[in-house]
Amino acid sequence: MSIQGKHIVIGICGSIAAYKITSLIRLLVKAEASVQVIMSPDAKDFVTPLTIATLSKNPVLSDYFEHSNGLWNNHVELGLKADLMLIAPATANTLSKMASGGCDNLLLATYLSAKCPVYFAPAMDLDMWKHPSTQHNISILQGYGNTMIAPNSGELASGLNGQGRLAEPDEILQSIRDFFTDNRVLQGKKALVSAGPTHEPIDPVRFIGNHSSGKMGFAIAEILHRLGAEVTLVSGPTSLDTPPGVVRKDVTTAQQMLDTCNKYFDAAEIIVMSAAVADYTPVNPEEQKIKKKSDSIEISLKKTIDILAFLGERKASKQTLVGFALETNNELPNALEKLKRKNLDYIVLNSMQDKGAGFSGDTNKVTIIANDGQVQHYELKSKKEVAADIAAVIIKHQEIITSL
Ligand code: CTP
Repeated sequence: MSIQGKHIVIGICGSIAAYKITSLIRLLVKAEASVQVIMSPDAKDFVTPLTIATLSKNPVLSDYFEHSNGLWNNHVELGLKADLMLIAPATANTLSKMASGGCDNLLLATYLSAKCPVYFAPAMDLDMWKHPSTQHNISILQGYGNTMIAPNSGELASGLNGQGRLAEPDEILQSIRDFFTDNRVLQGKKALVSAGPTHEPIDPVRFIGNHSSGKMGFAIAEILHRLGAEVTLVSGPTSLDTPPGVVRKDVTTAQQMLDTCNKYFDAAEIIVMSAAVADYTPVNPEEQKIKKKSDSIEISLKKTIDILAFLGERKASKQTLVGFALETNNELPNALEKLKRKNLDYIVLNSMQDKGAGFSGDTNKVTIIANDGQVQHYELKSKKEVAADIAAVIIKHQEIITSL
């Protein structure tokens, strides 16, 4: 199924990012979708209805009542006719009203009466995005089954730098395309992915960490979402942008990663732990910065809890649990031993001996071992392609366990 001929209702809110929607409308119209735009009253301060009407080839709706022709804009009909409703840019104000059932304009009334899937792409300043009320509203909306196309990180209109930039038009288009293609085989499933390193504090300014970039885990989160799963990505410190549609939970330490993964584990059918979690953490991080006094110092370390093994002990029959192994020697036997010990369904072996494989690059070369001992070797590929291979293995496993 393509987006050709699909009825897409776009709700534009009052945000500086509204200008980006003009490009999105062009892309949709080019793909032969039918686009009906509803603008919130404030949106008209940012882009003109004339521009939007010309690009979308449809009159723009904004009020319940059209003074020009005496007609009433029936929000129920608009919501019924649509194959998909997209609210973009979705401002903090509109998100809050959507979450609480507020209905003081045509856009919100259409949202409330929409029977079709609803996507929303937030755009706002960094601090508004981070505010607990905004985050709370977003989880309420996701709980209603609405899908978020997450904002990117980068320079914001305010001059600040951080998360809050509206996803780019081509990213939004891709999410819409994914919705209308038949490859959403993981629709209705929840996935939990861990990624990146952890930082274990030594004192307020120093930590023990590793070189993990998080790229592999982010690529896995992205592909699982594109296949229709609702993905929670628990990420250690990285500089990567959140893949569109993925819900990201940032953590710093191994303990925080454990607590957050544990919170989302039971609800998930698919769990992929690709984070490079620190195996040891300082016993007593100093409260003040350690001064350079003695010639040598000793830092006492204690073992962290192995998150993967902890989750493996609790694994339910509906779940597919995938871990990673990074080995420098005796690779296959070591990986197989980890798979058994941690009660995994699959382990993805990264070899440090292969050129192009490993932590920070864009490529990886893996071997996937199943818990029945089957071994599949893969070529050196981009991390996105490796993520697709891992997803294919997961899809097969989910098909098998759900048919039992
Ligand atoms: N892992 C975890 N929690 C930890 C350590 C590791 O969840 N505290 C997970 C990683 O996310 C990865 C897998 O365990 O999926 C294997 O990590 P790796 O570092 O290769 O192995 P370890 O089990 O830590 O064993 P070792 O370092 O002794 O090889």
